[in-house]
Amino acid sequence: MWASLTLLAVSIAFQLAHAVNTTSGSLGWQFVQSGTTGVVALQSIVVSPSLILLIDQPTGNPLQINGHQAWAALWNTETNNVTAVDLSTITFCGSGSFLSNGTMISTGGTPATIFDGTFTYPVGGDGQAAIRVFEPCHDPAGVSCTLFDDPSKLHLAEARWYSSTLRIFDGSLMVVGGMHTATLFFNTPDQAANTFEFFPPKDGGAPRSSAFLNRSMPANLFPRAFALPDGKVFIVANNQSIIYDIEANTETILPDIPNGVRVTNPYDGTATLLPLSPPDYIPEVLVCGGTNTTDQLTNDDIGTQLSSQDPASDQCSRITLTPEGIEKGWQVERMPEGRTMPETILMPNGQVLIINGAGTGYAAIGGVRDPVGDSNADNAVTTPVLYNPSAHFGRRFNRDGLPTTDIARVYHSSISLTPNGNIFIAGSNPNPNVTTGVKFSSEYRVEYLNPPYMTIARPVLEHVPKQVDFNKKFTVDVQVPNHLGTSSIQVALMDLGFSSHAFHSSSRLVFLNANLSKDEKKLEITSPPDNRIYPPGPAYLFLTVDDVTSKGIKIMVGSGATPPVSDQGVHL
Ligand SMILES: *[C@@H]1O[C@H](CO)[C@@H](O)[C@H](O)[C@H]1NC(C)=O
Ligand SMILES: *[C@@H]1O[C@H](CO)[C@@H](O)[C@H](O)[C@H]1NC(C)=O
Ligand SMILES: *[C@@H]1O[C@H](CO)[C@@H](O)[C@H](O)[C@H]1NC(C)=O
Ligand SMILES: *[C@@H]1O[C@H](CO)[C@@H](O)[C@H](O)[C@H]1NC(C)=O
Ligand SMILES: *[C@@H]1O[C@H](CO)[C@@H](O)[C@H](O)[C@H]1NC(C)=O
Ligand SMILES: *[C@@H]1O[C@H](CO)[C@@H](O)[C@H](O)[C@H]1NC(C)=O
Ligand SMILES: *[C@@H]1O[C@H](CO)[C@@H](O)[C@H](O)[C@H]1NC(C)=O
Ligand SMILES: *[C@@H]1O[C@H](CO)[C@@H](O)[C@H](O)[C@H]1NC(C)=O
Repeated sequence: MWASLTLLAVSIAFQLAHAVNTTSGSLGWQFVQSGTTGVVALQSIVVSPSLILLIDQPTGNPLQINGHQAWAALWNTETNNVTAVDLSTITFCGSGSFLSNGTMISTGGTPATIFDGTFTYPVGGDGQAAIRVFEPCHDPAGVSCTLFDDPSKLHLAEARWYSSTLRIFDGSLMVVGGMHTATLFFNTPDQAANTFEFFPPKDGGAPRSSAFLNRSMPANLFPRAFALPDGKVFIVANNQSIIYDIEANTETILPDIPNGVRVTNPYDGTATLLPLSPPDYIPEVLVCGGTNTTDQLTNDDIGTQLSSQDPASDQCSRITLTPEGIEKGWQVERMPEGRTMPETILMPNGQVLIINGAGTGYAAIGGVRDPVGDSNADNAVTTPVLYNPSAHFGRRFNRDGLPTTDIARVYHSSISLTPNGNIFIAGSNPNPNVTTGVKFSSEYRVEYLNPPYMTIARPVLEHVPKQVDFNKKFTVDVQVPNHLGTSSIQVALMDLGFSSHAFHSSSRLVFLNANLSKDEKKLEITSPPDNRIYPPGPAYLFLTVDDVTSKGIKIMVGSGATPPVSDQGVHL
């Protein structure tokens, strides 16, 4: 017997948040410091219910493996302990994502010697064309989990530093842009990798030249890209954006980000695809922070033209990717303060947490005027803010009860929602080597940001199937604590994303229709209609009741087959 429940508007849930806190003895939002990472968490991705893979570069880390310093490690969220992972190539400033079969791929990196031969890594080989393979690893402590790393056997078509990697509708990866080797700051015409390529390869492995990436030079590194619910890809780089049709190899030009604001490296803002909801799954993109500094500069100008004290942009720009929404263009809102290098975290209740970054300056290491040590940025922003996408315009930002940390997370930091439902925050190292005793030292301390639900009784999801096909109903067991009303039920299917350089590639939240049984013990859920609304691959399923969120349970969405996979489910 099923009681029908409609998905409650997130705006109502938002208003309930405070009532929950006061009625149930929650400690509210809290920063909690827990252990150290041993490598700088420059990139991070949740690779199992208890493990987060951290990826760095070898510039003096204390954590050792096989007789040398480590530059990757598995962080165990149960023990708050780290286990080194061996690598053979330099991963510095790469990216990654899961494939449809559950394997995680890390792409790109740096040559062993960079900056015109002035810097050679003490260990590690050329990594700029690397494709590294982390097969699904089921040991909860990460024992015997390995990262395959041998470019002589498997590599990208083009060398890439500062590219983004995302999973697309056929379960493959699209690798977007970057440059061939290190430059001081901007992308340069002689180094640009202004192309797209795929893994497994399409087009016989030939990269596709991108007119968009050509146009968005020179601040077009780490393009922010999302798979849209029709299978196309939204990309923003510098102050420009497009929708790219992978199947037709065509681009549709969207309006520029307003007010000259630029949002990709080294002018890092961040971007997120807002939660997708049934029945229409209308895609909306939110782009926040960055700078309105001109891009009509070269790497020779930055020492005179740019300063670590230049104010970052407080602008968030939002667009609805329907013909009417594109016609209307970007809608501008303002954060409480400017941020360069912020990150956005999708929360299972549909809100967006904006966190980390600095109030002034730029990304990258050294080069601008008034550097702080080697940091191009200053005035770390240490209080997060929530953005409620479904609140009324002008009333979407809220920082009631959000705490302040004393740990700066500026360049080369990373962050992720964990399956436990809290937020893992680590890294920060705006220095060429491991450096201590400066204002922005190499940061190994881990901090969790715990939402209010972490300190009260939470709903529990049980007997969640390991795999679910598209457009299928499935039933899970639930336990709902007595203190929660059940008028508001949200079931979120999430890709937690891959965090690198102020961007979570492949990050996604799809709300699912769900009915709770009258005895509140069973939940009947409908999986996403097709593989374009949720690109096939691993996900975490979260249940939020009365704005209190369960732990996330891992689930494979789609057949779990090796990509490219054919279309599955029903197209809307
Ligand atoms: C929740 O309650 C705690 C303790 O009373 C308070 O410190 C915190 O600010 C509250 N959080 C919210 C989001 O209201
Ligand atoms: C943490 O892991 C290391 C090995 O990576 C191990 O030697 C140590 O005992 C562990 N510590 C705890 C508290 O589990
Ligand atoms: C992008 O620029 C490169 C280098 O100038 C050029 O070879 C390529 O044809 C351009 N691509 C497109 C699609 O315009
Ligand atoms: C985007 O940047 C380009 C290059 O600097 C500039 O010509 C253009 O006016 C900018 N667009 C807007 C809307 O500011
Ligand atoms: C550029 O951004 C700064 C910092 O937010 C702001 O003070 C300034 O007014 C902006 N300039 C323009 C032309 O929008
Ligand atoms: C980084 O450390 C290495 C090895 O200790 C050293 O050779 C190199 O000069 C250092 N680089 C910088 C930029 O400090
Ligand atoms: C929930 O119940 C309604 C009405 O009975 C039904 O139309 C819908 O398919 C159910 N949804 C799910 C996810 O089972
Ligand atoms: C997934 O596909 C990739 C690419 O073909 C392959 O390297 C990997 O071994 C596959 N993983 C599994 C679990 O089958």
